[in-house]
Amino acid sequence: MAWVRSAWLLVTWVVATCSAGAGSSHAALATIFDPGSLAAEENMENNPEELKLLQARASRGHAQSAPEVKLEQREIASGNVTVPGVVLELVSGNLSMVLEAITIKGGLIQSFSLNNRSILLKRPYVDQMDGCVFWPSPQSAWGWPPPSAIDPTPSKDFDTSYDLRLSELKHSFELVSPVWKDHNMTVSKKVSVDASRMSFIIDYGIHVGGAGGKWAPWEIARVPPSGLTFFKTGSEQNSGSWPPLLLQHIGGVTWFLQKGDASSGKLFASTVPSTPSGLSWLAHTDGVLLFVKCFRHLPDGMHAPGELQIEIYDGVDYVEMEQQGAHEELLPGESITWTVEWFLREMPPGAVATPGDKILMDSVEDMCK
Ligand SMILES: *[C@@H]1O[C@H](CO)[C@@H](O)[C@H](O)[C@H]1NC(C)=O
Ligand SMILES: *[C@@H]1O[C@H](CO)[C@@H](O)[C@H](O)[C@H]1NC(C)=O
Ligand SMILES: *[C@@H]1O[C@H](CO)[C@@H](O)[C@H](O)[C@H]1NC(C)=O
Ligand SMILES: *[C@@H]1O[C@H](CO)[C@@H](O)[C@H](O)[C@H]1NC(C)=O
Repeated sequence: MAWVRSAWLLVTWVVATCSAGAGSSHAALATIFDPGSLAAEENMENNPEELKLLQARASRGHAQSAPEVKLEQREIASGNVTVPGVVLELVSGNLSMVLEAITIKGGLIQSFSLNNRSILLKRPYVDQMDGCVFWPSPQSAWGWPPPSAIDPTPSKDFDTSYDLRLSELKHSFELVSPVWKDHNMTVSKKVSVDASRMSFIIDYGIHVGGAGGKWAPWEIARVPPSGLTFFKTGSEQNSGSWPPLLLQHIGGVTWFLQKGDASSGKLFASTVPSTPSGLSWLAHTDGVLLFVKCFRHLPDGMHAPGELQIEIYDGVDYVEMEQQGAHEELLPGESITWTVEWFLREMPPGAVATPGDKILMDSVEDMCK
C-alpha cells in the first residue's frame, strides 16, 4: 500500500497541473526516488535533497514554473526542543508554501508559511499552546482541559504522540491520535495540496468505536496578536459567558481588529455561504500575509450545542480563529470527515489591513466562491 513509515524519507513530485481555474481535480504525476540508489551522488554532493529536486526537474523537462510538491519526514525544531515531524512543501516559481506538523502536542500544525514567513503563532517553549489544533465539539462534552489523547498540550503531557503516516501516491501525510478512552474516539488529520489552486487541503476525521455518539469537528488556528480577522456576517452572534469582542460590521462582513490591550473575550457567530461554491470562509491578515480558510457552510441549527460555526477568541497575546462543522450522530464504528482548504497569499496589491477594506474582502471571496 501507499503508506510509508521509515525513519526518514524525502519524496519529490513534479506536478502536472491543469490550467488555472480547472478546479480541484488535477493530474498529479509522481516521481519517487529510492534513497538507496542515490548513495553515490550523495557522497559527491553536500545537499542530496536539492540534488533530487534538480534531477526531478531535469528528468521531466518541465518548465521551471511547474508546481512541485515535496514531502519530508524528519526531526524538526518545536520551541526549544527537536521532535519528530513532517514538512509538506508546495513550490511554484518564486512562491514556496510550507506546512510543518509534529507528532506531539496533538499532531500540531505548527507553521504554515509563504516564502518562509508563517502566519501561525509559534511560541518559544515547547510546553506552550500555539499552532493549529483540532478538537471534538461541543466543548461542554469535556470542559477544560481538552482530552489529553487528542490535545495533550494544556495538560502538559508531552509523552503522548500521534501516529504519522506518509502517502507517496497521494503526496500527503496523516496524523492519527491515540484513543480517547472516555468515548473510544480517535481523531485524524490528512494534509495534502491542491497544486492547481496553490492551496493546502486538510481532511479531518472523528472516529468513534463502541457506543457511537454525537460530535462536530472543530479547527483552532492560533495567530499572533495585532492582526485583522474577518468573515461574512450571518444571523447570530453572541459572546457566551465571555466579555464580547470589539467588532465592526461593514459591507456584510464582521471585522475584528485585535489590539492586544484589552482583557480576553470571545465571539460565537454564524456565517453565510458564497455562491456557487456553498463554501464559507474565515480570513486573517497580519498586514503582510493573507490567510484564508474555506469550508462547507453550516446551515442554521446544525451546529453543536453552545457553539456556532465561527468562533474568535482574543487571548490578549494571541488570537484563535476557529470554525466548526455539522454536529452529527455517529453509530458505533462510524466516522465524521470534514475538509478545510487553506490559502496563504501576500496582501493583494492596494489592500490594507483595515476593517471594511474592499480589496481584501473581494480577494477572499474570490478564493472560496
Ligand atoms: C514573484 O514573482 C512575481 C513575478 O513573476 C513578482 O511580481 C513577485 O513580486 C515575486 N515575489 C517575490 C516574493 O519575489
Ligand atoms: C527562514 O527564517 C528563519 C528565521 O525566521 C531563518 O532562520 C531561516 O534561515 C530562513 N530560511 C530560509 C530558507 O530563508
Ligand atoms: C524547554 O523549555 C521547557 C520550559 O518551557 C523546559 O522545561 C525544558 O527543559 C526545555 N528543554 C530544553 C531541551 O531546553
Ligand atoms: C472501541 O471501539 C472498537 C472498534 O473501533 C471496539 O472494538 C471496542 O469494543 C470499543 N471499546 C469499547 C470499550 O467500547
